[in-house]
Amino acid sequence: MSIHVTDVDPQNTARLVQWNGILRDGYSVGRQKVWSRSDDATRLQFQKPHPTRRSVLLLAEIDGVPVGAAEAHAHPGEPADAEIAVLDAFRRSGVARALLAAVRDALRGTATLMRTETYSDVGVAFARSEGLRVGVRESRQVVDLPLSEGAFDGLPGAPSDVEVLSWVGACPDELLDGWARLRSHMSDDVPMGDLTRTALPADVEAVRRNEERMSEQGYALVRSLARVDGEAVGYTEILLSRPDPKIVLQDDTFVEERVRGRGIGRALKIANLRRLESVPESAGSLFLQTYTALTNEPMLALNRSIGFEEADVLTVLEGPLG
Ligand SMILES: CC(C)(COP(=O)(O)OP(=O)(O)OC[C@H]1O[C@@H](n2cnc3c(N)ncnc32)[C@H](O)[C@@H]1OP(=O)(O)O)[C@@H](O)C(=O)NCCC(=O)NCCS
Repeated sequence: MSIHVTDVDPQNTARLVQWNGILRDGYSVGRQKVWSRSDDATRLQFQKPHPTRRSVLLLAEIDGVPVGAAEAHAHPGEPADAEIAVLDAFRRSGVARALLAAVRDALRGTATLMRTETYSDVGVAFARSEGLRVGVRESRQVVDLPLSEGAFDGLPGAPSDVEVLSWVGACPDELLDGWARLRSHMSDDVPMGDLTRTALPADVEAVRRNEERMSEQGYALVRSLARVDGEAVGYTEILLSRPDPKIVLQDDTFVEERVRGRGIGRALKIANLRRLESVPESAGSLFLQTYTALTNEPMLALNRSIGFEEADVLTVLEGPLG
């Protein structure tokens, strides 16, 4: 039996969609309420390549039958991120090992460290066998949508000196500096276990580029910002894929350390969930998903208080690429 690994040309839509399907199926085995990137979003993401990121898309076949897939990305100077999935019926035959070897070959010279993600002990065993070590474990928490009437009844509101602004789409110009600054503080502060931290500069251009790419890929960005005395102190963001709104993603939430413990995080999340309801496509949304480090007790508790429950646990592993 010989395993054949080939590059997927993202401009070949049929092949790209086939590749995305293998990744999706491989990562879904044995899990409930799984989010996976839609074929539309995949096409939009890869057919207009990111200007500075190197991406690798690989398909593994046995006798011409696709059995596994890998996706990896590297920004120069940062750890590469790799996802590898093998269809259930073809596991333990060296397919993942062959895919990871090809990822390493393709990214050698671009990155020196790599990371990979898994939801299973088998995935952890595989990554360890390849010299990676557990960096962080995160709870994947989900809550059904629409939220029940009165879901937030009894929860305290925002403190009186805190102003919460919510909108959908690009950040208004007058809020942009504060948004970019908080986004970079989030990357300094978010619990990352033993993973290597790389600083994200407060870069307004990067915020605008990201907004543009996300909206081209069909995402509605639902955002809230908290201010005290006119100064930005916290933010939160939800991503809703307009062509595939079933599963909505609760992305970053950050509150500056000096104002933590006052209910600003909860007020931001509640305001943002209300704003989400104003996006017409959210009528088709079945649940909201978020990731929180298992060590981040304040955020796990906040999420539980608004109805989130754990679906499974993500393990991120890191190690040398070469
Ligand atoms: C993890 C996954 C990609 C492994 O794919 P695979 O093709 O079965 O893996 P391989 O056959 O190449 O295994 C290579 C090595 O990984 C380890 N490994 C793989 N499966 C294992 C298992 N069920 N139990 C223990 N170790 C295992 C072993 O060391 C194995 O070498 P060996 O067979 O010589 O002992 C596959 O189970 C999968 O798709 N899981 C869901 C997606 C996922 O979690 N991906 C994350 C990858 S980090």
